[in-house]
Amino acid sequence: MNGFALKIFGCQMNVYDGDRIASELRVRGWREVPEEEADLVVYVTCSIRDKAEQKVRSDLGRGGRKPLVAVVGCMAQRVGRELLARFPQVRVLCGPRQLGRLAGAVEEAMEGRTTVLLDDDPRALEDLEQIPRRRQLPFKSFVTIAHGCDNFCTYCIVPHVRGRFQSRLPGAVVDEVRSLVDDGVVEVTLLGQNVNSYGTDLQGVSFASLLRSLSAVEGLRRLRFATNHPKDLTDDVIAAMAEEPKICPAVNLPIQAGSDRVLKLMNRGYDVASYAERIGALRSALPDLAVTSDLIVAFPGETEEDFTLSLEALRRFRFDQVHSAAYSPRPGTAAASFPGRLPAMEARRRLNAVNDLQLGIAREINASLLGRVFTVLVDGPAHRGEGLLQGRTATDKVVLFPGQGLEGRFVDVVVADADAWSLKGRLVERM
Ligand code: SAH
Ligand code: SF4
Ligand code: F3S
Repeated sequence: MNGFALKIFGCQMNVYDGDRIASELRVRGWREVPEEEADLVVYVTCSIRDKAEQKVRSDLGRGGRKPLVAVVGCMAQRVGRELLARFPQVRVLCGPRQLGRLAGAVEEAMEGRTTVLLDDDPRALEDLEQIPRRRQLPFKSFVTIAHGCDNFCTYCIVPHVRGRFQSRLPGAVVDEVRSLVDDGVVEVTLLGQNVNSYGTDLQGVSFASLLRSLSAVEGLRRLRFATNHPKDLTDDVIAAMAEEPKICPAVNLPIQAGSDRVLKLMNRGYDVASYAERIGALRSALPDLAVTSDLIVAFPGETEEDFTLSLEALRRFRFDQVHSAAYSPRPGTAAASFPGRLPAMEARRRLNAVNDLQLGIAREINASLLGRVFTVLVDGPAHRGEGLLQGRTATDKVVLFPGQGLEGRFVDVVVADADAWSLKGRLVERM
């Protein structure tokens, strides 16, 4: 029996794709083994920033034993055949919309064939019809609800590598969630580059209606989703969140910049005032809402004043967490040819300033939760700390508390301590 190993880079969509790839290979008689023993290593790759690609290149370039490799996903699609020339162990290239053909191609790779499955047509789709039976935690799963993205934010490679936006049919999504629940899943996170566009290419269905259908799935306890686009987040979705108890009060609402001038250059389709209006609508409907956001610093031409507006936005909106990054030019995107690229040192300074400010805000928000009781889904033993368990609140905050066992169970925890990254507490008896 052939052994495979998976290496996953990038976003949650890649985790979902990796889980489905592993499930498919298992069904076809492959065995998942440690990388050192693998006959084949599948790299599920990311192109979002140069660093994400560098990691894969340095990994592939390492000395030592070289099993056959399939490079799958966004970087395979972006970089293409150069990877075959550069790294002789690479025998399969597979774009993110061709996963349905991957297993056949890797089996042929074992016989000595090299296969290139890239999309010249950004609408073509050969998806993998496989539910993710292999999961990091048996009781949680991702489910992609839409492929691709049509927004073409000027910095972003995703529309270039993941192709055109296409919603999965609601029936397929509901069936998948049902069978995941039958397989022990209690928490599902729906994925799309812009989940709020779900259904705009179908008839009679919207993201809000999908959320409501999924809320009706018996046995499902928690429903999450990412990523929201501020320009498309509707009142219907907010109402569904407020009315359906299974939908977790947590949103990722990327702001990307605090300056209207920069938002315009980014082609984001909203300004700070309309962002504020949306976040206000969310927070008044959902008092316990946690909001995370994404922010890019040192976008081409970002002035000191623009940057100050980003800091101001962090102070104003008080996000629970912010995924910040320095702008990385992506070949073929509009912004890659914009003037005003900032020196790396300056980008670093801005990134540090953002992170310092946000650390203080996150610490204050978490400290305000002392004494509160949260229902926590237990993930398992904490990564750090003897005898501690780790779980997540509905707001997706990490909670550490003494205990053992309880994986996949819901427990109540009272918060006794907090830092910027996590809450600490102890179990309380359920009334
Ligand atoms: N679809 C999501 C984001 C997907 S990419 C959205 O619209 O918000 C995830 C994050 O990576 C983005 O939110 C952005 O903050 C960051 N990112 C994307 N392209 C980048 C680039 N070229 N340089 C730096 N950060 C980037
Ligand atoms: Fe990229 Fe913008 Fe699409 Fe998000 S919405 S994936 S940032 S192009
Ligand atoms: Fe990366 Fe592709 Fe996700 S570029 S962030 S793996 S959509």
